[in-house]
This record gives sequence, C-alpha cells and structure tokens, in this order.
Amino acid sequence: METLTILHSVLRWLLLIVLIVAVYKAFTGMQNKSAFTDSDNKSGLLLTILTDSQLIIGLVLYFMGPWGLKNIQNQGMAVVMKDGFQRFFAVEHILMMLIAIVLIHVGRAKSKKANDDVAKHKMAFWFYFIALVLILASIPWPFRAGFESLGWY
Ligand code: HEM
Repeated sequence: METLTILHSVLRWLLLIVLIVAVYKAFTGMQNKSAFTDSDNKSGLLLTILTDSQLIIGLVLYFMGPWGLKNIQNQGMAVVMKDGFQRFFAVEHILMMLIAIVLIHVGRAKSKKANDDVAKHKMAFWFYFIALVLILASIPWPFRAGFESLGWY
C-alpha cells in the first residue's frame, strides 16, 4: 500500500505537467486560431491515460488504504467529518478529483466532436483549465495546515 501511495504522490507531478501543457496548447491554439494538430490530440490522449491511472490507484487507496473507507468504518462518519485531515481524504479529495477527472474526459470528448479547430481548442481549454484549478486546490500540499507530514513527492 505504501508503494501505491508513493506512486500516487509522484504521478501528481507528471499529471500536472501534462495538464498544464495541454491547457497551454489549447489556449495558444484558441488565441492564434491555429489548426488542431495530431500533437494536440496526443497530448489529450496522454492526459486521459495519466488521469485514469491516477484514478485507479486512488480508488485502490480509498478502498484498501488507511485513510479511505477503512477509516470511516473504524472511526464512524461523525468523528471523521469533525477532523480536517480525515474528512479531506474520506470526502473532499475523492469528490473534487472525481469531478476534475470527469471534466478532463468531457473536455476531450467535446474537443474531438467539435466542428472546427478553434472550437476544438476552446472546448479543451475550458474543461482542462477548470480541472487544473480543481486539482491544484484538492492536492494535500505539505504547505497546507494539517498536511505538513505529507511529502512533495
Ligand atoms: C486525479 C488527480 C489526483 C491527484 C493529483 C492526487 C494526489 C494525491 C496526493 C499528492 C496524495 C498524498 C500522497 C502522500 O504523500 O501521502 C493523495 C492521497 C490520496 N489520494 Fe489522491 N490524487 C488524485 C486523485 C485521487 C482519486 C480520484 C482518489 C480516489 C478515488 C484518490 C484517493 C487518495 C487517497 C485515499 C489518498 C490517501 C493515501 C494514503 O495516504 O493512504 N486520489 N492524492
């Protein structure tokens, strides 16, 4: 389980880099009204692969790790909800990340289906950008109060 936690933690950086690149590419494509290239399509594909890998690892951690379902069963939901750290992993992290993952998938699907290239970039930009904001806000960064014990990688 510890190996999976490390993998989940390290994968955050890869996912963030690919997501930021995809947002940047979509933004410049939208501004410059440039063609939606194979490289744009591939960066969206890589993004969904990384996102889904993070989701699978996250689900295993949630159902089998110490801070997800097991903690709710052991402590009871009332106790978990009163503690910021426990509530974060039991409810907030999974909920916000699931929304972000759905946005990434919808963004890619809508971008693929859009009629013209500017619309493709526009769809990708807005969905990926909102997902990026949600992900940045829902990562247990070690500078956040209560999460100092967690590492940067
Ligand atoms: C998609 C973007 C996601 C990112 C960037 C992300 C990032 C992280 C990070 C950085 C940690 C802290 C790891 C550590 O140092 O201890 C963490 C923990 C955790 N994440 Fe995620 N996560 C994501 C999605 C998810 C999803 C979708 C789930 C559940 C389905 C999930 C479940 C968990 C759980 C249960 C932990 C606690 C692990 C433990 O310490 O046992 N994550 N996540």
